[in-house]
Amino acid sequence: MPDQVNVGLIGCGSMGSELARAVHRGEAGSAKIIGLFDEYQPGRSALAKELGAGTEAPPVEVETVAELVNLPELDIVIECASQAAVITHAETVLSAGKSMLVMSSGAMISPDFMKTVSAAAQASGASIYIPSGAVGGIDALRASKALLEEVTIVTTKKPISLTGAPGFADWEDVEITEPTVIYEGSATEAVSLFPANVNVAATVSMAGIGPDATKVRVVADPNSPGNVHEINAVSKAGKFSFRFENMPHETNPKTSFLAVLAAIETLRSICEPDLRIGT
Ligand SMILES: NC(=O)c1ccc[n+]([C@@H]2O[C@H](COP(=O)([O-])OP(=O)(O)OC[C@H]3O[C@@H](n4cnc5c(N)ncnc54)[C@H](O)[C@@H]3O)[C@@H](O)[C@H]2O)c1
Repeated sequence: MPDQVNVGLIGCGSMGSELARAVHRGEAGSAKIIGLFDEYQPGRSALAKELGAGTEAPPVEVETVAELVNLPELDIVIECASQAAVITHAETVLSAGKSMLVMSSGAMISPDFMKTVSAAAQASGASIYIPSGAVGGIDALRASKALLEEVTIVTTKKPISLTGAPGFADWEDVEITEPTVIYEGSATEAVSLFPANVNVAATVSMAGIGPDATKVRVVADPNSPGNVHEINAVSKAGKFSFRFENMPHETNPKTSFLAVLAAIETLRSICEPDLRIGT
């Protein structure tokens, strides 16, 4: 990697903004945000103005991803937008030889899509990075992949956090007063029913026994202490249990603190590849 890793950002919402601020503060090594793309122009412009204040080289706002990947000296694109954005833009980014860090990992669980983007990355020499996001333990699942017999992830959120998801449609007008199972099934099905909520299930499934075999339960609980993810795995190498009770970001309650930190750490490790702990 070059001395400075130049980043283009797709998605300037909760997570993208917090990530960009952290990069701006120098928390991701030599990374620098040089370009911003978001279909919501006011959000994009507000972030460009904030990051550009007092700097000689403010980030450039672009109208298309094609423009983003053509920015001179761009090294990597970070997606913090949506599964739809990944599906629409990943091939363009990777075919242009630019590596991509994907937060909306649910988009990647379709085997056909994964095949297409992997082929684009291999052909151009680009890499695809999927951070551990709002959970951990991904290293253990990846290492024991061949020995795993069962993986379950239970995601518990307040009902308000599930509103708008297709899988929550029948519950929108129901008053939920106690922990209630909203969905039980495979990760494959869960990511389309809860596209903004179960990217962690996608990441866990890709690291472990795959999206069809990974069992997902989504629970709505008005008294949930936050977004809680519990992962249980049974393998010939042992039984693993992980529980993550995520705090919202201190300055932006719409996003999980840990997911932002995981993205920063992945970017930092791309900038400083000489030290890797636990990978
Ligand atoms: N992997 C994880 O653990 C994890 C954790 C939290 C969030 N996420 C995912 O990260 C993504 C961003 O989360 P957020 O909280 O910042 O959401 P957000 O809604 O606050 O921001 C998303 C931004 O992306 C823009 N956008 C969406 N689709 C777009 C498209 N097709 N083209 C251009 N711009 C587009 C929106 O206008 C918005 O400004 C979501 O998909 C979310 O599910 C992943």
